Amino acid sequence: MPAAPTRSLQVITGVAAMRTAVRALQQRGETVGFVPTMGALHVGHLSLVDAAAAECDRVVASIFVNPTQFGPSEDFTKYPRPLERDLELLRERGCDLVFVPEAAEMYPQGYGTSIDVGPVAVPWEGAARPGHFAGVATVVLKLFECVPADRAYFGRKDYQQTLVVRRMAADLNLPIDVRVCPIVRDADGLALSSRNVYLSPDERRRALALSQSLRLAEEIISRGERDALVVRERMLALIAAVGGVAVEYVAIVRDGTVDEAPEIDGPVTIAVAARVGTTRLIDNVQIG
Ligand code: PAJ
Repeated sequence: MPAAPTRSLQVITGVAAMRTAVRALQQRGETVGFVPTMGALHVGHLSLVDAAAAECDRVVASIFVNPTQFGPSEDFTKYPRPLERDLELLRERGCDLVFVPEAAEMYPQGYGTSIDVGPVAVPWEGAARPGHFAGVATVVLKLFECVPADRAYFGRKDYQQTLVVRRMAADLNLPIDVRVCPIVRDADGLALSSRNVYLSPDERRRALALSQSLRLAEEIISRGERDALVVRERMLALIAAVGGVAVEYVAIVRDGTVDEAPEIDGPVTIAVAARVGTTRLIDNVQIG
């Protein structure tokens, strides 16, 4: 039997070539969906490709481990870069084009521009990772310029990042529709992340405390608890009981904002960041 035809995936590295390719599709009347990533792709990333394919005629992904969003003591150099495997996954998923830019073209010599989106980037992840959201906002704006798509797809896994990108798109009148898709988890509840590969089997087991604490929060709120302090204490107690998980923050915020909700009297998002060994993990849940 002949092998099934392999779908073609066009890999583009140049900024000008990328722009031309997207414009050409749009001139033919096709809509383009864009999925920006740092590679080391998993089913969470691929769910964004699926969402884009469901809503757009063509799907463009990007793979770029963006140096400016990593702090000096973070994992930029050891971040996984399995490019051939990523391209294969995108090809299988029916992605049409992938932008894999060179750092030298993304950050030309003498580069100095940076996007500050204001208060939404300040607390939580912004406080834990100084400079992170300036790096994210700047590279996302640059990627939107390189891939002038109709819609862009982001995961709720990075809750505050979605707020930062939406704020920027609104403030700068960007002609792109920002879509946010649900968190994809392993069967045991662990949110998929490119950083999960750093976890030893014991650490991976402990890392489940994050999603378990979020489930506990959901449960006690559904039973009527309204005091955010109580919810937070219960979550911290569960995480402490598992052990080996150093919590950086538990944020209980009004959904769609970074503002703390002392009373749970409307929709909230609860976000948690913690270190398991040397691996930094984040997770969140939307409630109500
Ligand atoms: P990266 O961590 O590779 O994630 C790319 C996209 O996949 C983000 O929108 C992220 O929220 C989403 N994603 C990651 N894990 C997910 C999961 N378990 N379920 C659903 N979506 C998930 O986020 C970045 O890259 C970068 O900051 C980037 C936006 C590419 C800018 O450099």
